[in-house]
Amino acid sequence: MHKRLFIPGPTEVPAEVLEQQAKPLIGHRPKEFTELYTGIIDKLQKFHSTEQWVTVLTASGTIFMDITGRALVKEKALCCVNGAFSKRCAETIRDCGKEIDILDVDWGYAIKPEMILEKLASGNYDTLSICHNETSTGVRNPIYEIGKAVKKEYPDIMYVIDSVSAMGGDKVEPEKIQCDLIYASTQKAYALPPGLAIGFVSEGALKRAEEVPDRGRYTDIKGIYDYWMKKQQTPSTPNVSLLYALDYQLDRMLKETAEGRYQRHVDMAKWTQDWAKKHFEMFPEPGYESLTVSTIKNTQGKNVGGLNKELAKRYYMISNGYGNLKEKTFRIGHMGEWTVADVQDVCKNIEEIWEL
Ligand SMILES: Cc1ncc(COP(=O)(O)O)c(C=O)c1O
Repeated sequence: MHKRLFIPGPTEVPAEVLEQQAKPLIGHRPKEFTELYTGIIDKLQKFHSTEQWVTVLTASGTIFMDITGRALVKEKALCCVNGAFSKRCAETIRDCGKEIDILDVDWGYAIKPEMILEKLASGNYDTLSICHNETSTGVRNPIYEIGKAVKKEYPDIMYVIDSVSAMGGDKVEPEKIQCDLIYASTQKAYALPPGLAIGFVSEGALKRAEEVPDRGRYTDIKGIYDYWMKKQQTPSTPNVSLLYALDYQLDRMLKETAEGRYQRHVDMAKWTQDWAKKHFEMFPEPGYESLTVSTIKNTQGKNVGGLNKELAKRYYMISNGYGNLKEKTFRIGHMGEWTVADVQDVCKNIEEIWEL
């Protein structure tokens, strides 16, 4: 039987959403597709209260790290690193042949506006990258405050945010964040299967891309935009089946409302944190805990691998700590469609197994 996924993605997808993928295919050049795709773009803009252009690509979220490296960074980026995924973004930009400096913060701690301003003052950066929600540590960086501070002094720096494991649950309103690119993967808080990447792109980012040579093809965000402007379609063949599911899920999300969905994630995070503090400790710096995944310090030295084996018999799955944090921490994912009652249910099972 299927194990319910309380891991930080992929997360549980409602059956009615999964079923959308079984609809007969359509071509991606006729009007029928344009209607589907423009509908999705409208719904995404509505859900995220934005007029920024948004694109949905057939790839996982990592594609936007490559897009950043190939099409947005001109020469040198400041990359904020406080976990495994922000490290991956820094390395990707470097591997695209651009210079990077790393603002390194210990795992478990957040990146603050003043740390970034200090670094920006000392170097000649054209891009800033940060991870909204470090899935490896459960730390949520203050992206709104950072945007306000950085854009006031450095309006021309491209502010790029990996919101892969937050957007769709945590609140993301691009104009208020003042970001130039913010992106996510569908298998996280949007509660869809993996395979699509969603990115909001500012006018400034499109202008920047024009100035950056060798953008490739799949990673040419300007080319993707030009095709959208001409045809309201994607330049290469998209995963139409997943787009059906996204279209359907966006209707469900709009019905819940962005505020309602955000509040449900706040409630799940708060309840999980209180539960964690009763038995263990939270891993992230206080005040910077993720809304979509709670990383809990294993202060009782319990066997996390063993727990997951027992949970599997009850058809649940949580996550061990990431990398070096394995067994030292464990992670409960509460993103997408889960409710406080669902999280209470999995925690009750943990209590029984571990005799807490
Ligand atoms: C914060 C963060 N960034 C990037 C990624 C990579 O996303 P994908 O596997 O969808 O490319 C992940 C995946 O877990 C993530 O959690």
